[in-house]
Amino acid sequence: MPEPRIVRHPLVDVRLTTLRDETTDRASFRAAVRELTAMVVYEAMRHAPTRPVELRTPVTTTTGAELATPTVLVPVLRAGLGMAEAAHAQVPGAIMGFVGMARDEETLQPTTYLASLPASLAGRPVLVLDPMLATGGSMAGTIDLLVEHGADDVTAVCLVAAPEGIARLAQAHPGVGVVAAAVDERLNEHGYIVPGLGDAGDRQFGAM
Ligand code: PRP
Ligand code: URA
Repeated sequence: MPEPRIVRHPLVDVRLTTLRDETTDRASFRAAVRELTAMVVYEAMRHAPTRPVELRTPVTTTTGAELATPTVLVPVLRAGLGMAEAAHAQVPGAIMGFVGMARDEETLQPTTYLASLPASLAGRPVLVLDPMLATGGSMAGTIDLLVEHGADDVTAVCLVAAPEGIARLAQAHPGVGVVAAAVDERLNEHGYIVPGLGDAGDRQFGAM
């Protein structure tokens, strides 16, 4: 499997600190999710192929670049919804699909409650947006759905990942790359990432 790509930058560390701090209020938490998402998506798009385009500047003609293949962004609801707008701002021409997954907090098994995806994902780079990769069950389940829709080029874009989730994803979907702002120490007995940031959905949108 490809090694997970961790975005190392002082501005990433500062945003992660805001997310981890239990005293951060909901609006500040959402703002840090957006800002960190922009940085992680920037890294996830590092090797995106471009093609040349001719244009005129106010001074002369020159050659610019445009993305060669339209990217598909797939936020995993709820928590991934907070990443959607910032990711779309980075890749304005992207198509957006949506998956809804809820993890049972006792069994840690995810249930799919929404799948709204383009009919065919074959040949399109897909970025799955979910801030937390914990056991990896939700991400593996989401990618199962994408593969059913023909996806063959998938990257998991996370804010905080656990080693256990990375290993599970590597086993279930060995061709899928992971880009994250941090890989933390481990999961605790409740399936939460340690040190982590708590429940990313609740901290953005409120406890259900
Ligand atoms: C969180 C998170 C991931 C999942 C990660 O969502 O956003 O989707 O847990 O855990 P896993 O790797 O063990 O599957 P949650 O199910 O809490 O739903 P929410 O986004 O609606 O809060
Ligand atoms: N989901 C979260 O939101 N946080 C965790 O630490 C694990 C799963």
